[in-house]
Amino acid sequence: MAEIILALDHRSDDEALELVDVLGERGGFYKVGLELYTRAGPDVVHALRDRGKRTFLDLKLHDIPNTVAGAVRAAVSLEVDFLTVHTGGGIPMLQAAVEAAEGRVKLLGVTVLTSLTPSDVELVWGREIRSIRDEVGRLAELASRAELDGVVASAVEAGWLRPALGDDMLIVTPGIRPAGADPGDQKRVASPADAVAAGADYLVVGRPVTQARDPAEALGALLDEIAAAEAS
Ligand code: C5P
Repeated sequence: MAEIILALDHRSDDEALELVDVLGERGGFYKVGLELYTRAGPDVVHALRDRGKRTFLDLKLHDIPNTVAGAVRAAVSLEVDFLTVHTGGGIPMLQAAVEAAEGRVKLLGVTVLTSLTPSDVELVWGREIRSIRDEVGRLAELASRAELDGVVASAVEAGWLRPALGDDMLIVTPGIRPAGADPGDQKRVASPADAVAAGADYLVVGRPVTQARDPAEALGALLDEIAAAEAS
C-alpha cells in the first residue's frame, strides 16, 4: 500500500514535534527539508527516531562526488531512511552516493525542479529542450543507471515514469491535495487516488495536514482515501 510521508516544513523542531505528537500512531514517516534541518540540525532527526518514526532527509545533495559521499555517510549515521540527491550532479556523483549509502539509506533522485519553466531550463543548460517531460525522463534514466533506489516525481510524471522505470524503482510524489483542497503554490496537484493510480509508492503531504484545523482528522481522511483507492 502507498504510504504517506508528512512534510515537516516548520521553522523550529518544537513546532514540528508538537505536530508529530498530535498525530501519534497515525503518522509514521516524516520529511525533514532544508529549512528545518538548517535550523534544528540532526537533533530533529534524533527526536523523530526516538519516537519510532521513519525519516526522509530532503537535502537534495548536489556537489562533487567526494563531498556528496561524505554527506551520504553522515545521513547513514543519522539512520535516516530516505535521502535526496540531484540527478543533475551526474553519474559519478550518483554512483559515489550509492556506494557511500551501502544500502543503508534509500537514495531518491530529484530530476527537474517543478518550479522551473522550459525557458529556465534552457537558460541553465544552454540548449533548446523539447519538453520538461523529456528532460525528466532522461534524468530519471540516469538515476536508474546509477542504481539509485527511486525518484521524486509529480503524479503526472509518475504516470509515464512508472512504465519506463519498471517496478523496482520507488516513486515518491509530492503535490498531493485531497479533492477540493487549496492547492497553495503547487501548480500540478493530484488527489491521493490519482497518485496511487499513477504508480506512486509514497505520497509527500505537507499543508493539507500541517495547516488543517484538525491535523489528525485530515491525515485520517487521506489514509482512508488511499485505502479506498487501492481497494477499487
Ligand atoms: O505543503 P505541500 O503538500 O505542498 O508540501 C509538499 C512538500 O513536498 C514540501 O516539503 C515541498 O518542498 C516538497 N516538494 C514539492 N515539489 C517537489 C519536490 C518537493 O512540493 N517537486
